[in-house]
Amino acid sequence: MTGYFTEEGSVAAVNARMTEHANPRVKDIMSLLVKHLHAFVKEARITQDEWDAAIVFLTKSGQICSSERQEFILLSDTLGVSMLVDAINNRREHGATENTVLGPFYVAGAPHRQMGDTISLDGKGESCLFEGKVIDLQGNLIAGASIDVWSDNADGYYDVQQPGQQPKWNNRGRFVTGSEGAYQFVGIKPVSYPIPDDGPVGQMLKHLGRHPYRPAHMHYIVTAPGYQKVVTHTFVGDDPYLASDAVFGVKETLVAVYEQLTDGPAKWRSPFDFVLTRERS
Ligand code: BEZ
Ligand code: FE
Repeated sequence: MTGYFTEEGSVAAVNARMTEHANPRVKDIMSLLVKHLHAFVKEARITQDEWDAAIVFLTKSGQICSSERQEFILLSDTLGVSMLVDAINNRREHGATENTVLGPFYVAGAPHRQMGDTISLDGKGESCLFEGKVIDLQGNLIAGASIDVWSDNADGYYDVQQPGQQPKWNNRGRFVTGSEGAYQFVGIKPVSYPIPDDGPVGQMLKHLGRHPYRPAHMHYIVTAPGYQKVVTHTFVGDDPYLASDAVFGVKETLVAVYEQLTDGPAKWRSPFDFVLTRERS
């Protein structure tokens, strides 16, 4: 073998360049990537113009990224890769609360709030009481569990998308369960919204005849000592985008009930229990 590049021997030519000094895991991953990428280019018969367009797409994706905008996460999400990586790495027993995408709008360090507090600070939207328990697979209550919650506002934007327009930490908060393992807070019934679609990923969705909407959801990170971290959402059950979420985040077990209240602290009530599984040893 000459080591020269040929169309037929393209994969071998590239992968043979890796030496015994290569990091073994990087070597495994990159040789598979080269194998599948070359097969894709060959099967799709990519033209020079198409490859140039792909390079422009990636360049623009990088250029639009900032501390508030992550186009590559949007790309991964809209191609279903985020959900696939999440699924492979978070297989859980039946009955445990399932994971879904984190999304780009999580901000660590939200204010700690008391049970029953409201997280909605802008006075917009339809108030909703969120309540339930954090339990294990046997139904035992988990005290000291942390619930980090965030949602969009009634206009479909997260606080970080509208700095200066929305109060800081609007629709965000952290709660810790007491001895009853219960949680309760008031937020708003979230609304469906488009993922940021004014960049290359938005263009891609248009070329694919896809809409950019996510069905209305509340985001949660639930943690407790000795239990697996759950990164998840609960979805509004009658949302028109449930079956066509732009980022494939919906799972049947995460679709929550929203019932209208005639009196009480809010217009709506959405009960949901989080079921945690023990940390893997
Ligand atoms: C979100 O739900 O916040 C989200 C997830 C993926 C892409 C964009 C937004
Ligand atoms: Fe979201």
